[in-house]
Amino acid sequence: MATRQIVTVGAEVLREKAKIVTEFSERLWTLLDDMRETMILAKGVGLAAPQVGILKRVAVVSTDDGKTVYELVNPVIVKSAGSQIEEEGCLSVPGRVGFVERPLTVAVKAQDRFGKPIKIKTEEGDPFLAIVFCHEIDHLDGVLYTDKAIEGYKPPENSDK
Ligand code: CO
Repeated sequence: MATRQIVTVGAEVLREKAKIVTEFSERLWTLLDDMRETMILAKGVGLAAPQVGILKRVAVVSTDDGKTVYELVNPVIVKSAGSQIEEEGCLSVPGRVGFVERPLTVAVKAQDRFGKPIKIKTEEGDPFLAIVFCHEIDHLDGVLYTDKAIEGYKPPENSDK
């Protein structure tokens, strides 16, 4: 395993549409291993392949506690419900945060590193995970959270945020 350099905003690769993965070979496995390591080292909770300069539909997503890392190849959000507005940041947009509206729960269809279909459903009790899935899948279409951030948004006074 090796870490890869995370590209930051301004890089063209962050704005392009990533390509569907059709080969589930060693090259993909190395990419996934490297992305996992890079994400952990950067203390991130998600990383998409374009962020390391690779235009493939590949992402890794970590649970808040870091206990589970999901590997997503060709992920698609097939269902979403509810809504939440929370603060987001991005390893490719250092030093900034912004409030974004996202679904409360999502169901994601993807493939694992061997090409086997997988489906992940997030729980209402873990709204954070739905945010990360949405954020990373957006990266695969060249979308950054800053495109969706609500300008001047302030959380409600009685919020614990
Ligand atoms: Co990001």
